[in-house]
Amino acid sequence: MVKNILCIGAGYVGGPTMAVIADRCPEIRVTVVDINEQRIAEWNSDRLPIYEPGLEEVVRRCRGRNLFYSTDIPRGIREAEVIFVSVNTPTKTFGAGAGRAADLQYLEKTARSIVEYAGNDKIVVEKSTLPVRTAEALSRVLHANTRGLKFRIVSNPEFLAEGTAIADLNSPDRVLIGGMETPEGNAAVEEIAAIYARWVPRERIITTNLWSSELTKLVSNALLAQRVSSINSISALCERTGANVHEVARAAGRDSRIGAKFLKAGIGFGGSCFKKDILNLVYLCEHYGLPEVAEYWLGVVRMNEFQASRFVGTMLDAMFNTVAGKRIAILGFAFKADTGDTRESPAITVCRRLLAERAEVAIYDPKALDNAKRDLADAPPEAVKFCASAAEAAEGAHAIALLTDWKEFRDLDYAALYRAMKKPAFLFDGRDQLDHRSLYELGFNVYPIGCAALTHFDREP
Ligand code: NAD
Ligand code: UGA
Repeated sequence: MVKNILCIGAGYVGGPTMAVIADRCPEIRVTVVDINEQRIAEWNSDRLPIYEPGLEEVVRRCRGRNLFYSTDIPRGIREAEVIFVSVNTPTKTFGAGAGRAADLQYLEKTARSIVEYAGNDKIVVEKSTLPVRTAEALSRVLHANTRGLKFRIVSNPEFLAEGTAIADLNSPDRVLIGGMETPEGNAAVEEIAAIYARWVPRERIITTNLWSSELTKLVSNALLAQRVSSINSISALCERTGANVHEVARAAGRDSRIGAKFLKAGIGFGGSCFKKDILNLVYLCEHYGLPEVAEYWLGVVRMNEFQASRFVGTMLDAMFNTVAGKRIAILGFAFKADTGDTRESPAITVCRRLLAERAEVAIYDPKALDNAKRDLADAPPEAVKFCASAAEAAEGAHAIALLTDWKEFRDLDYAALYRAMKKPAFLFDGRDQLDHRSLYELGFNVYPIGCAALTHFDREP
């Protein structure tokens, strides 16, 4: 029975995942280490480095009991029987495969630390999302040691979504564990399965070979993103034809073979992983000589870029082809609700495009303003305002652009916002969150995604 777990990488995955393992397995000592000292200090403070509903309670329950956040990587490695590797694997920005392949430098550095400090055999678990067959390279680095140490590699990709991470971890649709098809490999898979089996029903724990597990993670994200791009592509057609994308999605999604989830049209998917993982899949297909397959998946990313750019195009068209000098209230900057994470948020693209048109953007987000400030640090300061409320952002604005599906945006006093805005007042609902008819009746010109705009410009002069 495993007694001592280490996780290398205290980010959006390592932090919450290990907190839930510690919570569910009080008899296991769980340590999370990172090279980023500030991040570890925040994990040990009252202000955690990430916002995630329910996370604080779990950390408060376990921290100091059987959950420890530390920068002492050598000690962590020495003491652990199982090491989860949850470091970042961003898209490569340089050299061969730049813009597509995964940058595995952090993974390799982690492997080298494990080799350097390990004093006995370990199970090393790939928690990061990795290209298929990474375990082969990882094994070579780990076994290039002269002390005869043996490392068994297991793939255990993470499927949590931000904003619902704690619920996802407590009640996952499935836990996937891949291993080498050898007696030692099977035993390692079983040791990892036994950790999850403390709270996840056995029928939800799927075991496969290593390569299937690594590839399944990329495929799962690609399939989810594909659904978003598919419905977004249809939203464009709806706007031209008088069909309503929500009605289409609801009716099509009622077919149990299609399913209702992940068919919400919007300004496009963001987040640190969808784009990076699809580009990685594209790179792998090219690498393995499958250009047609690569091209097919690249279309999902292209459609996503089209959707954000189409949204800004609609804003420009509606606002008489110029936003120069106009204040635009941006409601929401996070890539989705219930997170402060802004990585690859479509709000970044939309704001940058508006700034290029010389608009002034007044941004409000309940949790993501610190990250928004970093994302737009290079923008002209007089053109970007960070606001403490939606009302402050809308004061004197020509338009509101709703970019994140925060629930609180559904309950704002839109009559008061309308009164505080310049006229004609525009509202671009990039997440189709609002009651468009009543906004129209308040006086707004309303532009939803995937259905007809409601404007007061019907009568020609
Ligand atoms: P992150 O950037 O938030 O965290 C990664 C952490 O690893 C950072 O704090 C970094 O300092 C640390 N790190 C890097 N190199 C290190 C080293 N050599 N030693 C010690 N620490 C090191 O990333 P994340 O969002 O947690 O994602 C981690 C992995 O999980 C990625 O592969 C990602 O694709 C995957 N994933 C992410 C999510 C998500 O929702 N964010 C979900 C599923 C899977
Ligand atoms: C996604 C997957 O859902 C997780 O299973 C996976 O573990 C994770 O990526 C990862 O590997 O990082 P996440 O990016 O946190 O999780 O959030 P999602 O809920 O998937 O949303 C992604 C983006 O798609 C958001 O910008 C969201 O607004 C958008 N989206 C989602 C839509 O536009 N429409 C939808 O119907 C669903």
